[in-house]
Amino acid sequence: MKALLCTSYGLPETLEISEVPTPKIAADEVLIQVKACGVNFPDVLIIQNKYQVKPPLPFAPGGEVSGIILEVGEKVNHLKKGDRVIALCGWGGFAEEVVVNAKRVFLIPVDLDFISAAATLYTYGTSYYALKDRAVLKAGETLLVLGAAGGVGLAAVELGKMMGATVIAAASTDEKLALCKAKGADFTINYSTEDLRKMVKEITGERGADVVFDPIGGDLSEVALRSIAWKGRYLVVGFASGDIPMFPNNLALLKGCSIVGVFWGSFSERQPQDNQKNIVELLSLHKNGKIKQHIHKIFTLETAPQALTELINRKVKGKAVVKVCD
Ligand SMILES: NC(=O)c1ccc[n+]([C@@H]2O[C@H](COP(=O)([O-])OP(=O)(O)OC[C@H]3O[C@@H](n4cnc5c(N)ncnc54)[C@H](OP(=O)(O)O)[C@@H]3O)[C@@H](O)[C@H]2O)c1
Repeated sequence: MKALLCTSYGLPETLEISEVPTPKIAADEVLIQVKACGVNFPDVLIIQNKYQVKPPLPFAPGGEVSGIILEVGEKVNHLKKGDRVIALCGWGGFAEEVVVNAKRVFLIPVDLDFISAAATLYTYGTSYYALKDRAVLKAGETLLVLGAAGGVGLAAVELGKMMGATVIAAASTDEKLALCKAKGADFTINYSTEDLRKMVKEITGERGADVVFDPIGGDLSEVALRSIAWKGRYLVVGFASGDIPMFPNNLALLKGCSIVGVFWGSFSERQPQDNQKNIVELLSLHKNGKIKQHIHKIFTLETAPQALTELINRKVKGKAVVKVCD
């Protein structure tokens, strides 16, 4: 089968298309024919050896796939050959076939197309867990989302709105903010040209945001923390800027706020049933038209390195997806 391999750590252009043998499954695994693979920030990190997960070389990146089950291990009871699924493989998704532990594979409804399906788990899974389980966001509260047109950011905008919050989307370009508006954001802030703290104060009448969703880190993080409301919840989601911020911890005291870590991958391992419940809820929200994946562009295995480069260059809005098999 064909795979896009990382044979030595480096930037996306170092990835190579190769023919590799079909992987063998263990008793608790399934083999999936990959129809599509979502492109996520960890793919950019994993090929540069900058991610917490370090598969042995050579490997194909690609952490979430949609596809059809080809083979089922003897201990797997809830899945069968021919099932349409989405799966969290961690890596290996930029390939025609991938082996995944059955507990990370979820059935999808027939009306969910493979491209949209491949853009569901990482982003909506993370943002739903962040807002619902970690922030316990309530209707009527104000949610500030940084990097709001990115993968997890745009999902947070949509989910925050669906949960009844007033959503302030913050991003680096007006074009990105227009998409956030279309996804339901009530207010927008362009942090390349506007003062984030001043704008949040103006929008919230000096009160600040009840929940801050931060997937980017860097210099903006402290500004955003200073813009939080009394008893606010600051969600540490990621560091797309490449810079892990250090907070003066008196800010937590002064604001009476909580700084809350969000590690969805670990949640899905430690609390698989809670994660499963969230995924079922997300699929139902999609079915009822409450959420809709925004597909930036569809790439092929051959052009997948470009998708990763666009992610690095902050060009992707919503999700890029690689179409693998017809
Ligand atoms: N905690 C978890 O469980 C979890 C789960 C999934 C992802 N994550 C993390 O969340 C972060 C975002 O992931 P994502 O898939 O949403 O990525 P994404 O689609 O690339 O979005 C990231 C956003 O960050 C902003 N950004 C600021 N500086 C950047 C830089 N130097 N390079 C790239 N983007 C930059 C960009 O928005 P502007 O141009 O508007 O600033 C971009 O849209 C990553 O760090 C990822 O590892 C965490």
